[in-house]
Amino acid sequence: MKKYRIAVIPGDGIGPEVIRESVRVLNQAAETDGGFEFSFDWFPWGCGYYLKTGEMMPADGIKILSDYDAILLGAVGDPAVPDHISLRELLLRIRHDFDEYINLRPVKLLRGASCPLAGVRPEEIDMLFVRENSEGEYSGQGAWLYKDSPQEVVIQDSVFSRKGTERVIRYAYELAKKEKKTLTSISKGNALNYSMVFWDRIFEEVGRDYPEVETRSLLVDAAAMFMVRDPKRFQIVVTSNLFGDILTDLGAAIAGGMGLAAGANLNPERKFPSMFEPIHGSAPDIAGTETANPLAAVWSAAQLLHFLGYPQWEARILQAIGKLLVSREHLTPDQGGTAGTRECTDALLAYLR
Ligand code: NAD
Ligand code: IPM
Ligand code: MN
Repeated sequence: MKKYRIAVIPGDGIGPEVIRESVRVLNQAAETDGGFEFSFDWFPWGCGYYLKTGEMMPADGIKILSDYDAILLGAVGDPAVPDHISLRELLLRIRHDFDEYINLRPVKLLRGASCPLAGVRPEEIDMLFVRENSEGEYSGQGAWLYKDSPQEVVIQDSVFSRKGTERVIRYAYELAKKEKKTLTSISKGNALNYSMVFWDRIFEEVGRDYPEVETRSLLVDAAAMFMVRDPKRFQIVVTSNLFGDILTDLGAAIAGGMGLAAGANLNPERKFPSMFEPIHGSAPDIAGTETANPLAAVWSAAQLLHFLGYPQWEARILQAIGKLLVSREHLTPDQGGTAGTRECTDALLAYLR
């Protein structure tokens, strides 16, 4: 029997409401399978913790987490704490310090999920975003000069290293090769004359090792337009940290909404734990109502199972989500239903049985 130790950070707002449900799904998968089991340790870190202690997590938080096989995170963010503090000191800190440089975000329209695009069949929206997750526009480097004076100037630097750019692009090529899919790189070399010209060049360079992969290169503005007008153009997609952030919310919008959008922050070398979290935030507008859709968090937990070596369980969970959506019953309000978070998961667990 394989045993996995999982660190759970429920976080803020709807985070605890949805993460609780993804833990139930993981436990049921383990029980049914019989070949593996989980132990969960819960960490009450986040904005509530910050308001009590002045820190988003304890000083040795990263060290504590480094002992785990993986991390499940709900969401971080509360109107009472500035976002640049809460997110940079917890979520972005973990992604960075554990070198989780791959952010894998499926944009896949399941049958039964709502899609605002007219005349699009589910199989026409089936992308996998490989978002750079460790540097780029999120480097956190810059300066605030002459603060609060009329001369004030801010500089926010993007950092694109050869190592950082090559490794994410190579990862995407490997994926495209393995899955026999096209690879689209999204950048913005016409305006960002250093970072994105560099990105395009590395995309081309690494591509020489993958002559079998059919590639496309798009400017980010055109890519946003095509995701809406002609989403079937995209299969595997690789892009920078910020562009990936924005485009995967757009992806969520065309593939069932934030309540169905999953993400995995991977350290592919497994030197550090990887972290699995829905891509939505703490949704303060619905927090506490127990109506958040748990399926994005559950889908992220399915990605965790894949990463631990059980892709068959990821497939089974996705199939169960698919059945639930097609049934049109026990769905949360974002999917047009009236069910609560728990009822929705209960129904999912029944399909999974
Ligand atoms: P959000 O994703 O929290 O919410 C956007 C909209 O989507 C809201 O109307 C919300 O109700 C809806 N929504 C999100 N998840 C849902 C779910 N599971 N079921 C049903 N509806 C859902 O984005 P926001 O409002 O821009 O951000 C709120 C806070 O979360 C901010 O503090 C932000 O910085 C933070 N945030 C955190 C993460 C994270 O921890 N990974 C991600 C994004 C935003
Ligand atoms: C996401 C979120 C984060 C990001 C924020 C909360 C820092 O929007 O995971 O998509 O921008 O990466
Ligand atoms: Mn985002």
